Amino acid sequence: MAHHHKYPALGAALIFLSFAQLSTGLKCICQLCINNTCETEGACWNSVTLYDGKEKVVKSCVSPSEMKGPLFCYSSRNVSKRQCCFTDFCNNVTLHLPQVGNSSNPPSWGALELAAVIIVPVCLLCLGIILGICTVHSQRCTYSKAKKHDVEEPLTDRNLLSSEKSLKDLIFDLTTSGSGSGLPLLVQRTIARTIILHEIIGKGRFGEVWRGKWRGEDVAVKIFSSRDERSWFREAEIYQTIMLRHENILGFIAADNKDNGTWTQLWLVSEYHEYGSLFDYLNRYTLSVEGMILLALSIASGLAHLHMEIIGTQGKPAIAHRDLKSKNILVKKNGTGAIADLGLAVKHDSITNTIDIPSNHRVGTKRYMAPEILDDTINMNNFESFKRADIYSLGLVYWELTRRCSVRGIYEDYQLPYYDLVPCDPSIDDMRKIACDQKLRPNIPNQWQNCEALRVMGKIMRECWYANAAARLTALRIKKTVCQLTVSKDVKD
Ligand SMILES: *[C@@H]1O[C@H](CO)[C@@H](O)[C@H](O)[C@H]1NC(C)=O
Ligand SMILES: *[C@@H]1O[C@H](CO)[C@@H](O)[C@H](O)[C@H]1NC(C)=O
Ligand SMILES: *[C@@H]1O[C@H](CO)[C@@H](O)[C@H](O)[C@H]1NC(C)=O
Ligand SMILES: *[C@@H]1O[C@H](CO)[C@@H](O)[C@H](O)[C@H]1NC(C)=O
Ligand SMILES: *[C@@H]1O[C@H](CO)[C@@H](O)[C@H](O)[C@H]1NC(C)=O
Repeated sequence: MAHHHKYPALGAALIFLSFAQLSTGLKCICQLCINNTCETEGACWNSVTLYDGKEKVVKSCVSPSEMKGPLFCYSSRNVSKRQCCFTDFCNNVTLHLPQVGNSSNPPSWGALELAAVIIVPVCLLCLGIILGICTVHSQRCTYSKAKKHDVEEPLTDRNLLSSEKSLKDLIFDLTTSGSGSGLPLLVQRTIARTIILHEIIGKGRFGEVWRGKWRGEDVAVKIFSSRDERSWFREAEIYQTIMLRHENILGFIAADNKDNGTWTQLWLVSEYHEYGSLFDYLNRYTLSVEGMILLALSIASGLAHLHMEIIGTQGKPAIAHRDLKSKNILVKKNGTGAIADLGLAVKHDSITNTIDIPSNHRVGTKRYMAPEILDDTINMNNFESFKRADIYSLGLVYWELTRRCSVRGIYEDYQLPYYDLVPCDPSIDDMRKIACDQKLRPNIPNQWQNCEALRVMGKIMRECWYANAAARLTALRIKKTVCQLTVSKDVKD
């Protein structure tokens, strides 16, 4: 019953399941396993996907965690269909797609074909070929005609992986498909399994980050250990939230779990940015005023997108990051930023006014924690609280950023927020004493008053750091204010 603790969100469902099974594992058909069977505490999985014009069937086990996420338990679309079931070997049936072979034909064709099989098999073959061509052809026409926003069209695996598509094309397909939620699972697997790892580029809270190559292009691969399956799962799930894609949020490509029987390797594949994190970047370089504004604006845009709820079928829930810091923001080649590391993020369901996971408080990085988290006064029933805590952290990131802005050759060395007030790896208590009890905030240097952009940045920071969280600026407000700096800068020059 250990999994009840491991996957609390699934608790209720699993208690029912476990009783039904008397706590023994469920046996399923699994094509890729020894003896063609696997055992799981989750469900048997059965799927069929259109792949290279043919139906490709996959039968396997799903773990309880997978049942909630990118491996969706249920789908029925023209190009892929999958289902979970909960009795031994219940996936020992072969699923078919509606359109391949029969959906475009009237039922009477079935009888005729049957007759043909008996009488002239050769004829059927000819007929089959002709039909096949027609079906494919008519599909093409329907697709190009009116289905531009039909989520199904660009998502066929055939479309996605057949040609020499680059990652950019793939991601473009996704963003324009209107789905924006992520590539189909099989495509994600195929991509992940054809990546060649080159070098380790960092160690995160969970596992390692590698630079790898896919079809000659650089990608970043975050590798989680099996112990951190939940984190892997959570991050993959958040990245695949509908409409999350944004140029200032790290571009997610694929999640994959490679299991060799004894060991599971969990991968998250994303775009690769050679400059690395904002933390690394600021340590190495100083910024021009324009460069500083560009970064500040792009980070605010990313955060505003994350925080914003978009209503509608193609909408997105409001999301709070909960671990915003300079190490979790990447710097792109053109000097804009991309927010990464969404593993601790929470989504808000505005209809039921609930947060999607039981929000364990005090996650994140202590140094960047808002005062109300440090002293545990945060109201976790109000989703706004989480956004406001993000804004506090954003203010600290802005402080790191602005210090490195060189005006007439004057700038400051790189420092972490509160470097002068707390030890290297501060405890919650260390942080609480300075941020809550003494109400201290990072120092805003006097010389910032001499430059309009720095002065405005300083003002924004103060308004991000109010002890009264409700008084803080919103991400959208910050974005607008920083944007005006770009304009006034242009006018002045
Ligand atoms: C798999 O098959 C072999 C014989 O082919 C048998 O000895 C073994 O017990 C089977 N394993 C399982 C898990 O059923
Ligand atoms: C998908 O199937 C439904 C019927 O199940 C049909 O109405 C629709 O046109 C099909 N879509 C495509 C793109 O073929
Ligand atoms: C799966 O179904 C086939 C045919 O219906 C049957 O022969 C086979 O024994 C079944 N396998 C299991 C493991 O139930
Ligand atoms: C699975 O992978 C791990 C780590 O790479 C390795 O140590 C182990 O021997 C592998 N097990 C099998 C059955 O291949
Ligand atoms: C930076 O690059 C992205 C594409 O990666 C592009 O959409 C954006 O407009 C660029 N921004 C600037 C300021 O050049």
